[in-house]
Amino acid sequence: MGNVDLQARIPNNVDLKEDRRLQRALESWQPDYLQWWMEMGPEGFQADQIYLRTAVDVGREGWAHFDYVKMPEYRWGIFLEPSSPDRAIPCGDFAGQPAWQQVPGEWRNSLRRIIVTQADTEPASVEQQRLLGHTAPSLYDLRNLFQVNVEEGRHLWAMVYLLHSYFGRDGREEAEDLLRRRSGNADSPRILGTFNEPVEDWLSFFMFTTFTDRDGKFQLLALAESGFDPLARTTRFMLTEEAHHMFVGETGVGRIIQRAADVMNELKTDDPEAIRNHGAIDLPTIQRYINRWFSSSVNLFGGEISNNAATYFAAGLKGRYKEEDRFEDHVVVEGIYEMPVPHQNGADVARLATEEIPLRNAMNEILRDDYIGDCEFVVDRWNRILEKADRPERLSLPNRRFNREMGIYRGWSFDPEGNPISAIEFERRSADWLPTASDKSYVKSLMTPVLEPGKMAAWIAPPRKGIDGKDWEWEYVRFDKASVGIGLGAKPSLIG
Ligand SMILES: [Fe+2]
Ligand SMILES: [Fe+2]
Repeated sequence: MGNVDLQARIPNNVDLKEDRRLQRALESWQPDYLQWWMEMGPEGFQADQIYLRTAVDVGREGWAHFDYVKMPEYRWGIFLEPSSPDRAIPCGDFAGQPAWQQVPGEWRNSLRRIIVTQADTEPASVEQQRLLGHTAPSLYDLRNLFQVNVEEGRHLWAMVYLLHSYFGRDGREEAEDLLRRRSGNADSPRILGTFNEPVEDWLSFFMFTTFTDRDGKFQLLALAESGFDPLARTTRFMLTEEAHHMFVGETGVGRIIQRAADVMNELKTDDPEAIRNHGAIDLPTIQRYINRWFSSSVNLFGGEISNNAATYFAAGLKGRYKEEDRFEDHVVVEGIYEMPVPHQNGADVARLATEEIPLRNAMNEILRDDYIGDCEFVVDRWNRILEKADRPERLSLPNRRFNREMGIYRGWSFDPEGNPISAIEFERRSADWLPTASDKSYVKSLMTPVLEPGKMAAWIAPPRKGIDGKDWEWEYVRFDKASVGIGLGAKPSLIG
């Protein structure tokens, strides 16, 4: 385990210079990555100075260094948590045996698939968010968006390092394909559905970073328990970065709720039309965006009853959330998970019947439970904002069965409480439950850029504090004068 080499062309703490073959391979992937970043990364802001944190160490404290940097010059690097020499495989049939330092031949394809699927989400989210800079509500938010974007880029580096180091030619080809697929592209889409959906406004961005990045957090937590040690160490460090992404999402939505509450109190009404006329986003619209992004994100955990999940757990490729701390039985050959499974009811309304699923086959659902629990805490904190503002309204998560496009609930209709209903009934109520065309066009109409220090768009409250001990009003982005006016025209108002 080397120290962090920040001077290297690719900053790393994996002693890259000791492995010339790997170093050459990664150095030849680097220009392709940069070309992808220029093409598909944040549009129109590549020449500007952004106040970003960069990883400079892997210690628990003080790994981040803050400074102005142009995004294409960001020091994307390879950082793994230090290894602990006596680490054992935490779960499955080989629990207790020494963790693998090389890919076990039998599980090579499964591991590669797991890594590629995770890796694919990282550039995908950058692509989904590439136009958002043009409509940022403040410099503070613009900076946070770009921080998330460069770190997703680094997460791609983390996964590509594993592919290049441990999977030979296949790995190199997968690394190239990761730069070839494009979010939302009909011929060559990203692997998972949610990562092909456009993120076109900041309410969606904050929902995405709350719910979809949180899926990422739980996938990484499962991989952090992997018996394949390099994967566990890579994902552990990624998790330290992921925390900021969820902070951006949760506080972003929280500030929109705050603004809605303030306007309702000021106008002494909860009429959505009145709230909108005042330039804020009404709570029913916020609830519909929660329903949409939460239901899309719960799909990402995979099938409720899954042979793959059982295999991955048995092989020790993935563990449960906090496998070592929370469980005593790490082998899990006994035990059942009681799951409501939909059955035909003659009509098109599902009949739910509880079935007993062997625990190993329910591993996706177990991780989904932990995810949903975490999301519930987030919604509780959002509701506390309403409570503090003396508002009676409350937001909630829809049931996991609502609006599903994957798994056993797909093809059936459920209301947000999870009750089976007919497809016709769902259709009839869907404007109450999911964002309508007019919701989307209203939210979009608010998306005009506010890019002067100390200013904040009217539809969102300012944060309580800024980044790195600064005020939120601080100049987090310094625009390159030469490039102002280039791009989609978000910045011309800045000059004179
Ligand atoms: Fe990520
Ligand atoms: Fe993330």
